[in-house]
Amino acid sequence: MVGKSDNPNQALWEKGDFTRIAATMRESGEALVRRIDIGSGVRVLDLGCGDGTTAIPAARMGADVLGVDIARNLVAAGSKRAAELGLSNCRFQVGDATNLQPIPDRAFDRLVSIFGAMFAPKPFDVAKEMVRVTRQGGRIVMGNWIPNDPTLVAQILRISSAYTPPPPEGFVSPMTWGVEANVVERFGGAGIPADKISFARDTFTFRFAGVPSQFVDEFRNYYGPTMNAFAGAAKNGREANLQKELEELFSAQNVGTDGTVIPATFLRVEVTC
Ligand SMILES: C[S@@+](CC[C@H](N)C(=O)[O-])C[C@H]1O[C@@H](n2cnc3c(N)ncnc32)[C@H](O)[C@@H]1O
Repeated sequence: MVGKSDNPNQALWEKGDFTRIAATMRESGEALVRRIDIGSGVRVLDLGCGDGTTAIPAARMGADVLGVDIARNLVAAGSKRAAELGLSNCRFQVGDATNLQPIPDRAFDRLVSIFGAMFAPKPFDVAKEMVRVTRQGGRIVMGNWIPNDPTLVAQILRISSAYTPPPPEGFVSPMTWGVEANVVERFGGAGIPADKISFARDTFTFRFAGVPSQFVDEFRNYYGPTMNAFAGAAKNGREANLQKELEELFSAQNVGTDGTVIPATFLRVEVTC
């Protein structure tokens, strides 16, 4: 149990228990890592690593992995998973994507951030930090949810926003990382020309051993952004409406017959430094 944080970004992700959602993301996390060329001894930074959905498979492939995350509970959970698996080449530490000091410049061959750095504030600072810690010729791979995409996560965030109080002045939506022009502008600000950035639509599949309404309950009870949406809905007596909208969404997106299986589209960004 960690003490409550004054940093709203940290407090959001320490809320609940994201490991419950991450448990439904393992297979796609592993598949994604297999598609990035990560060989033995490659130095990998997994930024916004959670409990190691991509850090752990990268370490299993022989990479020398550091997972950095703002949520102290998730860093502890990742460290525990790595220790249980005997992965001495997989370390986790608390850090903020907006300022990765004391990590030295050009310390990594690969920087992976799958639905991680997109959730940090100050996107231009985040892009600069990602570029700073990646060696020249090294590669950054980001996975970013796409605004207005019809699949699961973009729709959860869209539905939730209707129940949550408006964000503070100056707040930049994480979903803006799912727009190619923004990505080019942000990495451009970090000195990366547009022709070093490539984009692809990719799919990440959530797998949950239960029916869609039970999967909604996992989000309601353990996923910070959805917990906040339910807290907002409760203030106006609209929790049942939110539950119903999410259950309809999860059921409509489910392609599984045994358990819940929901594919979600994301923008894969690859940057050569
Ligand atoms: C949707 S989760 C994804 C976690 C992990 N990459 C995975 O795929 O399971 C978003 C993660 O980003 C982390 N995060 C949010 N803001 C961050 C920041 N400013 N610096 C570092 N990590 C951050 C959260 O704590 C959380 O673990």
